Amino acid sequence: MFVTFEGIDGSGKSTQLRLLADHLQAKGHEVIVTREPGGSKGAEDIRRLLVEGDPGRWSAETEILLFTAARRDHVERLIQPGLAAGAIVVSDRFADSTRVYQGATRGDLRATVDALHARMIAMEPDLTLVIDMDPDAALARGLARQSGEDRFEDFGAAFQRKLRDGFLALTEEYPDRVRLVDGSRDREAVAADVAAIVDAALAARPS
Ligand code: ADP
Ligand code: TYD
Repeated sequence: MFVTFEGIDGSGKSTQLRLLADHLQAKGHEVIVTREPGGSKGAEDIRRLLVEGDPGRWSAETEILLFTAARRDHVERLIQPGLAAGAIVVSDRFADSTRVYQGATRGDLRATVDALHARMIAMEPDLTLVIDMDPDAALARGLARQSGEDRFEDFGAAFQRKLRDGFLALTEEYPDRVRLVDGSRDREAVAADVAAIVDAALAARPS
């Protein structure tokens, strides 16, 4: 099973991904934890080009190409081999981030994102958890980390609000795989919801 976490910066995706991996490992599953942009050597190299530096460093069109190149390497070298070996692959972000960050926020580039995805990636997660929360609170959490990877946070609060709307719209576009989780609560409450959704999805799969 391929599970992804999505949501605005600072919403708690990485935290919830780690807690979910612990939960699944404790139940005896083999779990591969990964992230985008990144997850393979080549994709991690591309990541540095994308998340550091000036907000204006790349146009949205150039970003689409770089994120898709990174994703292709990640899919070829980690995600597909992991799924083929029977692991549960859990990724912090995947193609939905490109649909929202590049496809819907700076001009309507969604058709370009979709065409490139169909041509170069052509796979979707089995389950996507959108961790939803207020952008101002999330921005405060994210910037508090001072990770040096703040290029997208630096687009500002209005950009984060557009992103949130984009992620909410995904739950309507892909109702079968995208589930919304209220990320504004404490870690344990969010993690309990996430675990319940994933456990139910696992139980519903043909064995
Ligand atoms: P993301 O991966 O979505 O950017 P993180 O999981 O890195 O988010 O969380 C961003 C910051 O908020 C981190 O400092 C993290 O420790 C903190 N955090 C995560 N979840 C919660 C929560 N439920 N309540 C309060 N703080 C949280
Ligand atoms: P990430 O490390 O998940 O950031 P955060 O922990 O702050 O949520 O992702 C790095 C940044 O890259 C993030 O701001 C979102 C952005 N991004 C895109 O714009 N498009 C994409 O396709 C992906 C995967 C990420």
